[in-house]
Amino acid sequence: MATERRRKVSLFDVVEDPGGGAKKAKANGGTDLINRWNGKPYSQRYRDILEKRKTLPVWHQKDEFLQALKDNQTLILVGETGSGKTTQIPQFVLEAVDIETPDKRRKMMIACTQPRRVAAMSVSRRVAEEMDVNIGEEVGYSIRFEDCSSARTVLKYLTDGMLLREAMTDPLLERYKVIVLDEAHERTLATDVLFGLLKEVLRNRPDLKLVVMSATLEAEKFQGYFNGAPLMKVPGRLHPVEIFYTQEPERDYLEAAIRTVVQIHMCEPSGDILVFLTGEEEIEDACRKINKEVSNLGDQVGPVKVVPLYSTLPPAMQQKIFEPAPPPLKEGGPPGRKIVVSTNIAETSLTIDGIVYVIDPGFAKQVVYNPRVRVESLLVSPISKASAHQRSGRAGRTQPGKCFRLYTEKSFNNDLQPQTYPEILRSNLANTVLTLKKLGIDDLVHFDFMDPPAPETLMRALEVLNYLGALDDDGNLTKLGEIMSEFPLDPQMSKMLVVSPEFNCSNEILSISAMLSGTLGSSHQQLSSLGSMPPVGMHHRILIPNWFVRPREAQKAADEAKARFGHIDGDHLTLLNVYHAYKQNNEDPSWCYDNFVNHRALKSADNVRQQLVRIMARFNLKLCSSDFNSRDYYVNIRKAMLAGNFMQVAHLERTGHYLTVKDNQVVHLHPSNCLDHKPEWVIYNEYVLTSRNFIRTVTDIRGEWLVDIAPHYYDLSNFPQCEAKRVLERLYKKREKEKEEARSRK
Ligand code: CDP
Ligand code: MG
Repeated sequence: MATERRRKVSLFDVVEDPGGGAKKAKANGGTDLINRWNGKPYSQRYRDILEKRKTLPVWHQKDEFLQALKDNQTLILVGETGSGKTTQIPQFVLEAVDIETPDKRRKMMIACTQPRRVAAMSVSRRVAEEMDVNIGEEVGYSIRFEDCSSARTVLKYLTDGMLLREAMTDPLLERYKVIVLDEAHERTLATDVLFGLLKEVLRNRPDLKLVVMSATLEAEKFQGYFNGAPLMKVPGRLHPVEIFYTQEPERDYLEAAIRTVVQIHMCEPSGDILVFLTGEEEIEDACRKINKEVSNLGDQVGPVKVVPLYSTLPPAMQQKIFEPAPPPLKEGGPPGRKIVVSTNIAETSLTIDGIVYVIDPGFAKQVVYNPRVRVESLLVSPISKASAHQRSGRAGRTQPGKCFRLYTEKSFNNDLQPQTYPEILRSNLANTVLTLKKLGIDDLVHFDFMDPPAPETLMRALEVLNYLGALDDDGNLTKLGEIMSEFPLDPQMSKMLVVSPEFNCSNEILSISAMLSGTLGSSHQQLSSLGSMPPVGMHHRILIPNWFVRPREAQKAADEAKARFGHIDGDHLTLLNVYHAYKQNNEDPSWCYDNFVNHRALKSADNVRQQLVRIMARFNLKLCSSDFNSRDYYVNIRKAMLAGNFMQVAHLERTGHYLTVKDNQVVHLHPSNCLDHKPEWVIYNEYVLTSRNFIRTVTDIRGEWLVDIAPHYYDLSNFPQCEAKRVLERLYKKREKEKEEARSRK
């Protein structure tokens, strides 16, 4: 097959082209016996899936699509969720476009971006199956801290954030021939930045093509932005969906959702159910309760398979959403049902066939940023009308369906915004600005944003990066900033890593950073009860994994185990203890089980750590530790952490509560902390907004260190009046005096 692959073809060797050769045409018809990509005979499964694929709406417009792609550099494609955009379009491109480099020595790739990690993984697996190749070979995926692709990869699904990272080292994205920006309607931060970037890259690379895909009609906005690029619409094949509203507002949407599931299961004809909830804990809780309530009904009802879906679910569990519903217990008995309880992922990113009933409580977790107090939080907030529409659409994929909105019609009309605000208008932009600077985009004000962020938010980001030393006073990237931008972490964390050798503790800071940035996502606890006021749980963007397992039946034992790891000076050091214990016990899963720590999360942290070590090595950053028995061992670690996090400090006031420094917000230590005292000063990782504001993952630091390590930030001439200021004044005086004494001794 090597000759087949090396065969010279024109840039756009469209399938029907007789010059393209019968062999190629046959490959597309599926009658060919040999797989063009790996030279192996096609499996029966390949042929079965192919028949199904051919029924997808996009197949009817394949020729039209390829022609439009041939004629244009940029193309916009809009199609209802489930019409086959994500899985089929990149394959069409692959069949039709010559991906060899002009010198014929290498292959270039097709990229397809996804805002969500789960979608990148799940869809690439599906496409590998459809192409009858192994995942990670011809078809791969790449998400933060996990690259499942190889030199053979020709089609790569990757998160939009990863493509942005690749642009940092490959500014013209030269490894790609065609880039598909999928789920563009989600308007994630990374996708929005890619829009502006790619517009520029396209000008410099006439051979590159861009396909922008979206599930909603807002695409006309994209058209305007991309200089009138042609818009292709794929009509969905949506069956009618009947919409029901509640008469009165629901006090507790979780309870209402569970009740509705049970009612549907008891009363409605067969068909699977999809419930939209907001996050992992809520979803797991709902799954448990649904199982319980259904089992209480005994055999008056059919069997159910309740499956959760959220971003941090292990891949094997994610596959379960595609399994069929259980059959009725006895012939002619009440129907069995699959009940999928999902976050927004199932709104447009993943299509689950067979859904007939949708339950939409009207909430989703969304990023909200307040530049004034520099707090970014994930808040459970009402969805938009556009989202509600997408959600209900999921019920009509295979037959007429029903959507139960757990809010009133009046609320839908009056309270929901037409569209979700793009993330760029609601996020902390420090990381984005650092990336843009690294990409050589200096003039942020004139960068071609589809929706320009608020000037205040940009200013805040520049300010933060300047305080961290990543940008100089003219806004230019410093040497430190260059290195920081290479870490796929928040700037505060990269700063702490880069300076950690100076504090002689880079090994430990690496472990802590890995623990904090595990890829398993958040562990928000719901602090408020669920009710008409959405349960707000959340924090800084960094999503911290759940390290500790606390099974219902063994809560006491679990708490005791956790206490054994506890470090009195703070949660970061507790995490370090857990990591060290894990390594000392040879990463043994049964040790994890016995000690109530999450093995999967630790394994993933270990993997993250290895990758961070490689980046450290690239910049000759020394790996070192202080002597464990020295008094300075933990002191050095705490100082290094402060060197990155000096803007996330809270001070204990005489009144007994904490105020965040400079912003003067009242906060409380999160009950999960491991401290045995209330330190005067703490650094924190997360700001959890609930009925009370909590700071979580906190560590005790000394006021003197603020003066020593971050005098430029703790510059009192530019400091609001408060108790902390008075304390700092004393500390500065004390330091002055010490210096004088030292001088006079000399
Ligand atoms: O991107 P879009 O929403 O237009 O559709 P898609 O994700 O390409 O999915 C098209 C179809 O592929 C779905 O309706 C499913 O029938 C099928 N599919 C599947 O069976 N298993 C997957 N993991 C993904 C898609
Ligand atoms: Mg899709």
